[in-house]
Order: sequence, then structure tokens, then C-alpha cells
Amino acid sequence: MHLSTVRCAYLLILINFAYSGRVLTKMKEYVHRAQYQRAKEHLLMRAMSAKPHLNDVKEGVIYQSMDHVDREVVETFPQRYFVNEAYWERPHGPVFLYIGGEAAISMYSVMAGHHVDMAEEHGALLVALEHRFYGASINPDGLHTEKLRYLSSQHALVDLVTFHKHISEKYDLTHKNTWISFGGSYPGALSAWLRGKFPHLIYGAVASSAPVKAKLDFSSYNKVVGESLLDEAVGGSLKCLGAVWEAFAAVEAKLLGGNETQVGKDFGSCQPLEEPEDQTELIQSLADIIMGTVQYDGEGAPLTIEKLCAIITNKSEEFEEEEEAYEKLVKLVRVYQAMTGEPCMETSHKLSIQELSNTTVKPSGVGERQWLFQTCNEFGYYQTCEDASCPFSRLLTLQSQTELCPLLFGVSQSSLPSNIVFTNHFYGGDHPETHRVLYVNGDIDPWHELSVLRNGTARADRDRAIFIDGTAHCADMSSDKPEDPSTLKEARREIEMHVAKWLKSAAWEHL
Ligand SMILES: *[C@@H]1O[C@H](CO)[C@@H](O)[C@H](O)[C@H]1NC(C)=O
Ligand SMILES: *[C@@H]1O[C@H](CO)[C@@H](O)[C@H](O)[C@H]1NC(C)=O
Ligand SMILES: *[C@@H]1O[C@H](CO)[C@@H](O)[C@H](O)[C@H]1NC(C)=O
Ligand SMILES: *[C@@H]1O[C@H](CO)[C@@H](O)[C@H](O)[C@H]1NC(C)=O
Repeated sequence: MHLSTVRCAYLLILINFAYSGRVLTKMKEYVHRAQYQRAKEHLLMRAMSAKPHLNDVKEGVIYQSMDHVDREVVETFPQRYFVNEAYWERPHGPVFLYIGGEAAISMYSVMAGHHVDMAEEHGALLVALEHRFYGASINPDGLHTEKLRYLSSQHALVDLVTFHKHISEKYDLTHKNTWISFGGSYPGALSAWLRGKFPHLIYGAVASSAPVKAKLDFSSYNKVVGESLLDEAVGGSLKCLGAVWEAFAAVEAKLLGGNETQVGKDFGSCQPLEEPEDQTELIQSLADIIMGTVQYDGEGAPLTIEKLCAIITNKSEEFEEEEEAYEKLVKLVRVYQAMTGEPCMETSHKLSIQELSNTTVKPSGVGERQWLFQTCNEFGYYQTCEDASCPFSRLLTLQSQTELCPLLFGVSQSSLPSNIVFTNHFYGGDHPETHRVLYVNGDIDPWHELSVLRNGTARADRDRAIFIDGTAHCADMSSDKPEDPSTLKEARREIEMHVAKWLKSAAWEHL
């Protein structure tokens, strides 16, 4: 299964998305737990210094129309939101909107992170809206295929418009309360699109690691994974990339040679690797460990690029050349499993399909089924490995990922290219011609390939691109940490500078 959510690792809270295998999902959860812990410690310290805390955070629900276009559809669903009034300077202080994506949000969405630090600075009201069909914002029958047709980024944007109205009425807001939106990963794209489509509601937007360009065959994801494994600034090397390449070739050779029993044992597969699909599932999981390590480098994942490379390039006298790389990959997987406490590696393709077909709503974590539906209908983003630049295995094909669309949702594979074309036509792809949007990306993060990396050309209020050396997915969204690279700290100062400038110019306009 090649669905991995591209979640921004940052807090439980945030962001997320983009599919790949279940190992990548587990890594996300691991990273989230680490960041959740960090947020809690951070808040505890604040509590001791008598800063505002839990009591200032409120949870609410609004009932949204299921269909914002066809008003004949009377069905509604409950949508969850959080508000933090602790820093708000009434009545004219700005509003900072945190946008939820393909996972549940929590009160931490309005309590921790760089946007919260800026809210404190500017006396902003913090609000966060969970995405429709994820977390608690879904009806009990919401995962049935016929209901999923109401799940789209377009409906999600109108949900945000309705939410804007709801909050404005509840807090007596006027045009003097300047709204700025924030999001990372898929919600980063929503942040840019919201500002682009509704500039009268949202004055400026920060879009972190936002893949605004839909792409069916996202082969360049793994091209960047390869480049990052080469990058000496983050602990990569030519030797490291070469060893990864050799190791996967060795795994493939053993499987082709009929030695699947041995391979299954070596990598701790939960079941024997009987079906060819299960072998592909194993290779996807192995690739996921490397992809996830790159995507979340330095953000609390079980491994870092540096550690991964140290293990996979560690020479020993015991093995022949090609055995060597294979054995080091086995070692790497054991280290990974020890860190995550996974007893074995799930490799059953059948079980994977069963899990994705399950329509029981789960109120926390990533919505894998929903997100897969969105990739089929809107975004693609399939992290394939058929391109010569990919260091893993050619078995990870576009075909094997997209066949889930008809299988699970009745969305034909032949309709996928036009779905992607429509999305890019509707939003503008990587030339969205928005104004007053900050596109922030890290060069290690494979998702930067689908974002905006150049400054806009407009005369006034042009878009700005911030491209950070040596950082991964959504790194800018967390608060400053002492160990952050200086490039990351500088990027945050630049974001702060733009947000301050926007608030100032908005205040002038409202005089
Ligand atoms: C399977 O692996 C074992 C141990 O490495 C080796 O001796 C054997 O020849 C292999 N079998 C096949 C069919 O490749
Ligand atoms: C490299 O291998 C040696 C001996 O096999 C081992 O003691 C050492 O811990 C390994 N280093 C890493 C980074 O795995
Ligand atoms: C679906 O998921 C729920 C919740 O995780 C679980 O309790 C249930 O057994 C699953 N159903 C099937 C058919 O796997
Ligand atoms: C965008 O413009 C700013 C200011 O002119 C410049 O410092 C920055 O390097 C530019 N960014 C990119 C990615 O070109």
C-alpha cells in the first residue's frame, strides 16, 4: 500500500497528509508523539511562569451544510473547532486561523507552535478548524463511499468561509480584525488557496511545505529523497546513497530468486511473504523507513539521515560486498523496530485493503481512507519509484498505487489524469498568482517539489518564497528550539517580519 500521509510532523495537532505505506503512517505517529511531548513540556513551563493556559482554550462545534453548492441537500455534519482567547487584545486584535487537514486536530493547535508565538506577540485571537470528514468532524456514516463525495478541498474552503462568519458573529468582529491563515502540508495549500479565493476575508497567508501543485506520478519525491541522502550538510554521502541502492537491489534479487522465506525472516515480517503483493508491501515498508527518515529529518523521528547513513555505510569484515548492503539494511530495520517497539512488520496486502475498506469512524489520528479518496479525486501525489533517480525498487509503481482508486471508491484509473488537470486549473498549480502569501519550504523535504519556490512578480503585495537550507517537512511551524539550525531560525524571523508588516499595512488601510 502506498498511501502515506504527508503529515507535517509538528504536533499531534497539525497537519498531515500524503500517502505511502503503513510504516510511514506509523513514523508520523511516532514523530507526533515526540512533538506532543515537547509541546506539553513547553506548556508546563509556561504554566509555571503564570502564562495563560488551558482555561483560555474552548472547544466548539458548528453544523455545516454537507453540500455548499446544492442547497437542496439538507444534510449537515458537526465540525469541531478550538479557540484560544488568552492573547487576544479586544476588540480589534487580529485573528490567526490555523487550518486542519487530513488528521484530527486538538487544543494544542491553538496552544503551541510558531503561529501561537506570533499570536502572543500581536495580541491575536487563535482559532483552529478541523477539516471535514477527519477527526470528530464527520457523521457516523461518513466513510461510506457515497458520502465521501462531499469530501473535497473546495468544500473545505467554504467550510472555512462559514467558520469565519461564525467566529465574527460570536466575537463581534469587524473589518478591523485582520485575519491571517496558517497551515502546513495539505493545510498549507489550503491556507494559500483560501487567501487566493477569498482575499476579502483573509488578509495574508503563511503556507508551510504546501504542495499546491497536484501531480499524479510524484516520482520526484524519491528523487529528492536520493538527493537528501547525498547531502553532506545533513549527514548524507555518496556512499550512503550507494549503499541504499545496493541494499534494495539485493532484496529484490533475493525475492526474485525465490528466497522470500529468508527475506521475510530477516526483516521480521508478521506473516510469510507468499503473494507477490505482500513482497511489494514489504519493499514499500522498507522504502517508507527511508522516506520517512528524510521527510522528518531532525523532527523527532526514530532515525535521522545521519544515523541512517552511519548504520547503512558501517563496514564490517563479515560479509561479501553485496551481502554487506543487505545486512546493513536488516540492521537498520532492527534499529527502527527497536525504537518504535513494533514486534513485527505488517506485510499482508489483503489486510491493508481490509483496513482501508473499513468504514468505522475513528476520532483520532490520520484519516487514511479519506485521504486516499482525496488523492484519487483531487491530488494524485503518488510517491512512485519507476524513475531512474529512485534508489528503491521499480516494484513501487504508479499502477500498484492507483489501482486502489477503483477498488475502494469506484474512481476509474483513466479519470485520474483529468482530476489532476482540473485541480491545477482550479487553483493555479505552482503558479497560483496569489498575493500576500508566504510559501515556506525546506530543501531536504521532498514535498518542496510541488510548492512555490520563487518570489512572485506582482508589484505590490507579492508572494514570497522562503527556501530553507537543511530542513525537512514543516520545520518552520514549531517554536524555536536551541538545536535548530540558524537557517531555520532566520526563516522564522522572516515569517515574523512579513506577518508584522501585513498587520501594520492592514491597520493603515482600516484607519
Ligand atoms: C536462499 O538463501 C540461502 C542463504 O543465503 C542460500 O544458501 C540459498 O541458495 C538461497 N536460495 C535461493 C533459491 O536463492
Ligand atoms: C558498526 O559496526 C560495529 C561492529 O559491527 C558496531 O560495533 C558499531 O556499533 C556499528 N556502528 C553503527 C553506527 O551502527
Ligand atoms: C473496523 O475498524 C474498527 C475500529 O478500528 C474495528 O473495531 C473493526 O473490527 C474493524 N472492522 C473490520 C471489518 O475490520
Ligand atoms: C525573494 O525576495 C527577497 C527580497 O528581495 C530575497 O531576499 C529572496 O532571496 C528571494 N527569494 C527567492 C527564493 O528568490
